[in-house]
Amino acid sequence: MKKVLALTLTLVMILSVVGSAMAAGKVGVSMPTKSLQRWNEDGDYLKAQFEAAGYEVELQYAGDNDVPTQVAQLETMLLNGCNVLVITAIDATSLGTVLATAKEAGVKVVCHDRIILDTDAVDYYATFDNFQVGEIQGQYVVDTLGLADGKGPFNIEFIAGDPGDNNATYFFNGAMSKVQQYLDNGQLVCVSGQTTFDKVATPKWTTATAQARMDDIIAANYAGGTPLDVVLCSNDSTAQGATNALVAAGFEVGKNFPIITGQDCDIASVKNIIKGLQSMSIFKDTRILAARTVTIVNSVLAGEPVETNSTVNNHVFDVPTFYCLPLFADVNNYEELLIGSGYYTAESLAD
Ligand code: BGC
Repeated sequence: MKKVLALTLTLVMILSVVGSAMAAGKVGVSMPTKSLQRWNEDGDYLKAQFEAAGYEVELQYAGDNDVPTQVAQLETMLLNGCNVLVITAIDATSLGTVLATAKEAGVKVVCHDRIILDTDAVDYYATFDNFQVGEIQGQYVVDTLGLADGKGPFNIEFIAGDPGDNNATYFFNGAMSKVQQYLDNGQLVCVSGQTTFDKVATPKWTTATAQARMDDIIAANYAGGTPLDVVLCSNDSTAQGATNALVAAGFEVGKNFPIITGQDCDIASVKNIIKGLQSMSIFKDTRILAARTVTIVNSVLAGEPVETNSTVNNHVFDVPTFYCLPLFADVNNYEELLIGSGYYTAESLAD
């Protein structure tokens, strides 16, 4: 079956090269879901920038984070003659078979934002420094509470990301690298006792799942007026869940609303930051990441050296990686960072 697919692919690719001699190549872009703002942006910027560079682009979203759909869409991209695949994997370990077929057919694979594990059939990885994202979140908590000056104790809860997304553990571990010592010495207290990744993870990163877990935590631990000082959330979709649960439970900004961290600068979260319903986020400029992925693909197809600045081990080999820089965002710098850079208009952030 694999051989037949590989043979068909070779034929399709020969025909498509003959048929589209003018295109720089055909790129299959595989995104996880349209339900999060983040991936709509990545998909749009990748498509626009690849097209501007002369590529034909096939852009697909895998339903709402559906792994079999992502696999089927990748197979179709191969059959349609894509000679490069740019993939943001839903599940880091579920694409091995289809990628082995791609490799046999000489198709290059770039992991976009998320590493794909347990395969030798990926070529490059473009992302932001994910551990650093978590460090920025954790350091924000340390600085805002004055933990290094011995202040405390403060109560903290944690909401992490999808266990299938390898980034999620990097974010969590990065944040923990900053706050663990204060949990150990009692300056931070997690009243629910849920401090390990497996306990605090949020399958598929959904707001509703994070909100439901936060509802339960509040009901079980904070209903009687016990203060909650921090909810350390790995990204904006989960932060929005925490915010919704806290507002519903009667927590009020300026009175007892906790510090809430996030990541992505989703419009909904930036609006929350402006209102004090979220404290910070991380700006990952998806225009820059898309440009980096396009640069990698250009170099690979031209047979030129590919610029990288790190490696990430995917359990099989050290994947040459380019890390882009994640930036801290809060109410004091969002205008310059997000509006000034042309990422958002002022109107899009107005209520
Ligand atoms: C990305 C984050 C995003 C999360 C949920 C992660 O892989 O790096 O930016 O918030 O997925 O989509």
